[in-house]
Amino acid sequence: MEKKYEGTIKEIEDRINEGRLKPGERLPSVRRLSKELQCSINTIIKAYAELEKKHRIYSVPKSGYFLVGSHQSSNSSPKELIDFSSAGPDRSRMPYRDYQHCMNQAIEFYKEEMFHYSEPLGLEQLRQQLSKQLQDVQVFAPPERICVVSGSQQALDLLISLSFPNGKDEICTEQPTHPSFIQSLTSRNLKVSGIEITNQGIDFTRLEQIFKEREIKLFYTVSRFQNPTGYSYSNHERKKIVELAQKYDVYIIEDDYMGDLDTKRKADPMFAYDPSGRVIYTKSFSKVLLPGLRLGVAVLPEALLDSFTRAKFAADVHTPVITQGALEIYLQSGMYKAHIQKLRRYYKKKGTLLKKAYLEHLPPEAGFTGGESGFYSTVELPERMKGKHLADHLIHKNVLVQDATAMYLPKYRKENRIRLSVSQVKDKNITLGIEKIGEGIRELLAKGSSLV
Ligand SMILES: Cc1ncc(COP(=O)(O)O)c(C=O)c1O
Repeated sequence: MEKKYEGTIKEIEDRINEGRLKPGERLPSVRRLSKELQCSINTIIKAYAELEKKHRIYSVPKSGYFLVGSHQSSNSSPKELIDFSSAGPDRSRMPYRDYQHCMNQAIEFYKEEMFHYSEPLGLEQLRQQLSKQLQDVQVFAPPERICVVSGSQQALDLLISLSFPNGKDEICTEQPTHPSFIQSLTSRNLKVSGIEITNQGIDFTRLEQIFKEREIKLFYTVSRFQNPTGYSYSNHERKKIVELAQKYDVYIIEDDYMGDLDTKRKADPMFAYDPSGRVIYTKSFSKVLLPGLRLGVAVLPEALLDSFTRAKFAADVHTPVITQGALEIYLQSGMYKAHIQKLRRYYKKKGTLLKKAYLEHLPPEAGFTGGESGFYSTVELPERMKGKHLADHLIHKNVLVQDATAMYLPKYRKENRIRLSVSQVKDKNITLGIEKIGEGIRELLAKGSSLV
């Protein structure tokens, strides 16, 4: 049976589609609509909250709810939303059908595994396949050192709490970095040092100083397509990071979450410069397959295998066997390789379009990082302009971007950054979207937007 608030959503959507509500226009107040539709205030609040989640409407404190769109366009048909804020992969590129076949097969092949608990580190057959597949990105590791995790985030979250052989207790991370890692750090109240990452990478003198002066147990780094900056280290930089880690007895977590998408086939992971175990390598299947599978991999040093296995067991016993079995079949059949080759071209094209658009349409007061990445990049706004203000302002132009404040630890926070992901933006809209962002920045500059 249709719930009451779903009926309300439908009613509002009908009004939008029939042109009775115009882009930019204020929606009826909660009280008025509840009287008009003869339902409770709670029903209307819930319906508006759902429509806000779908980015059809937005709320302005003390003013009410408005239809997404610009005031100027009120006589034309609603303009298409350009969404740079959705961080996931392009839905149309996710191999849902192929994976469905693999899941169906896995239910048969791995039936026996369903009747008992399985290995904490993952199915043996999958770890063998992963060992082969990782060689494509220059990671040579035996199946015994490979652990299947419920999303690479799980590996990161478990690793930061483990004791390391160097006996140190502080974590060093790039700033900014992705929100889930920030959550891991802050929710555990760990000792953390940050190092700024810009479009020039990191300052090696500063990194050495941190390694030298502080008790750094591990350095967490995203070696390519960093989230949010989109930065990728050169081979030279990767080698230098490994050398500094060796010199000061620091471990490295190399998060290579999208390594498969790199078109530069000569790019080495940091792992290749020290396969002995100083570099812990992680990768994700969320961006290249389906995020809902929650599948990731960690390559661990011998010295951490035991404590990691116990932590993984304590967290969720093991990653579900059917999704693991399906991945084994997907890798083994060659489907993964074929899929990745297509994806690389697809996202690279988006990255190229984005960089060109940045160069052409951003005002000189703004900078950007990571233009080549087909996923993430940041725009650095003029010093006194808040990312949040710009994000709110751009909603009126049907453009969604993400304020990057939550991607910093409180101590290193910068408020004048926005993150853009082009992964879900149609190619034809990339330039148009950046043009509108450039226009929005100019408008706020003219208004004298300030941090206060
Ligand atoms: C850089 C980075 N590493 C790791 C993750 C976690 O990915 P997963 O879905 O595999 O847990 C994310 C998620 O977006 C990410 O951006």
